[in-house]
Amino acid sequence: MSTAKKQYKRITTNSVVEMKQNGEKIAMLTAYDYSMAKIVDHAGIDVILVGDSASNVMAGHETTLPITLDQMIYHATSVVRAIERCLVVVDIPFGSYQSDPKEALRSAIRIMKESGAHAVKLEGGKEVKESIKRILNAGIPVMGHLGLTPQSIYKFGTYTVRAKEEEEAEKLKEDALLLEKLGCFAIVIEKVPAKLAEEIAKSVSIPIIGIGAGGGVDGQVLVIHDMLGMTHEFNPRFLRRYLDLYKEMNGAFKKYISDVKSQDFPNEKEQY
Ligand code: KIV
Repeated sequence: MSTAKKQYKRITTNSVVEMKQNGEKIAMLTAYDYSMAKIVDHAGIDVILVGDSASNVMAGHETTLPITLDQMIYHATSVVRAIERCLVVVDIPFGSYQSDPKEALRSAIRIMKESGAHAVKLEGGKEVKESIKRILNAGIPVMGHLGLTPQSIYKFGTYTVRAKEEEEAEKLKEDALLLEKLGCFAIVIEKVPAKLAEEIAKSVSIPIIGIGAGGGVDGQVLVIHDMLGMTHEFNPRFLRRYLDLYKEMNGAFKKYISDVKSQDFPNEKEQY
């Protein structure tokens, strides 16, 4: 059952800000390819994030660090070709914006120009302020990403909950206010205490989209392979699995193998 408060023919960055104003929660999922994006868009998702989690779930890397700008553009282009309604946001990958604002702008421009996506996302607060400013000045909408920022995993050391201590919580609040002031249209907040995330969502006028950040924020995002139950080894508390696709697909593949071996497939009707 949908609880949309307003029907949108196309979702823009303004639409998601309006959803927050209207008290409508924003539904965001990742997608990385044409076929999946088409199904997700037809289901009525508000935002598709072409996340650098593609590095994990599509390419099999342990972290998000190895994925390149060219690879992100390839995924984003496939997604954009599929969609009719939702907003498409693309992660700027590690190493394509941290060194200087000009490089950040060049990367954002390549994503927008070559893929046709609608906005970019990058990780960090104060540290990447100049890069965010430059990208926004070029007319490219930016979504921020605070809390657990997987591109900094080697600094954090673990994927555990962030901002449990006062000092980090204070920095998170300041960074959220800064991103709003700079002109970001939304912020992803990942894996922080629900109370803190709710407080931040109340303190800013732009939407806070949470992953592992509780229900007091303005929207939710999940990695599509996780919510479909394709990734069995990943079991964080915040994850709700809507299907056990690993089991379903495994069963289908086993049946196919057995049908081929036993010569049950193809049958008379399945040939010319
Ligand atoms: O890359 C990604 O999938 C993300 C989400 C976890 C928010 O950044």
